[in-house]
Amino acid sequence: MKHESESRALDHLIAGNRRWAEGSVREDPAFFRRLIEQQAPKYLWIGCADSRVPANDIVGLLPGELFVHRNVANLVVHTDLNCLSVLQYAVDVLRVEHVIVCGHYGCGGIAAAERATPLGLIDNWLRHIQDVAERRRAVLARERDPARRADRLCELNVLEQAHNVCRTTIAQDAWRRAQPLSVHAWIYRLSDGLVQQLGFTAADASDPAVRLASAVERIEARAQRG
Ligand code: CO
Repeated sequence: MKHESESRALDHLIAGNRRWAEGSVREDPAFFRRLIEQQAPKYLWIGCADSRVPANDIVGLLPGELFVHRNVANLVVHTDLNCLSVLQYAVDVLRVEHVIVCGHYGCGGIAAAERATPLGLIDNWLRHIQDVAERRRAVLARERDPARRADRLCELNVLEQAHNVCRTTIAQDAWRRAQPLSVHAWIYRLSDGLVQQLGFTAADASDPAVRLASAVERIEARAQRG
């Protein structure tokens, strides 16, 4: 039967799930019992959907410790109800204290936006990255090497998205009521598994554009040195 063979195609994943569940209980018998009580993560991760950037693993957090939203190229678009709903729930209901926007070098979304070869519907999504490249073309123009230019665009994109988080009504309202909330911009390197901070941390409503500008300046300085 077609249906049966289709379900057997994923037997190794179900087997992997059994091993993971058993292993988790062996290491910590109360593991799942504790998790059903509640989730109380302190952090929201907004990252790329790329299969090589597993949020929990990268920062060594267990289930229950990290609230996660991922999309292609870790974008925070002000009309994206999905991302905004995750952010609103994380901040207003779960009361996370930190929002981490984490991009990564070698991002396929960034590369596709740079190439601008038609891929279909996703081109509309990637347009946001092309907007970033357009706004920051003076910084990008300093990098002659295409690989280095792509790295800078990955960094600039993260900064702009972290800045977008700060400008949402969700972050602004949280800060207005003096709720502790920090927004961070990080970038992850596939080749060594390490995260770097990009010099953008916002812990209050004071002009996020100023923070963005000084973080962009640092990237510009690095582009000049290189
Ligand atoms: Co990516």
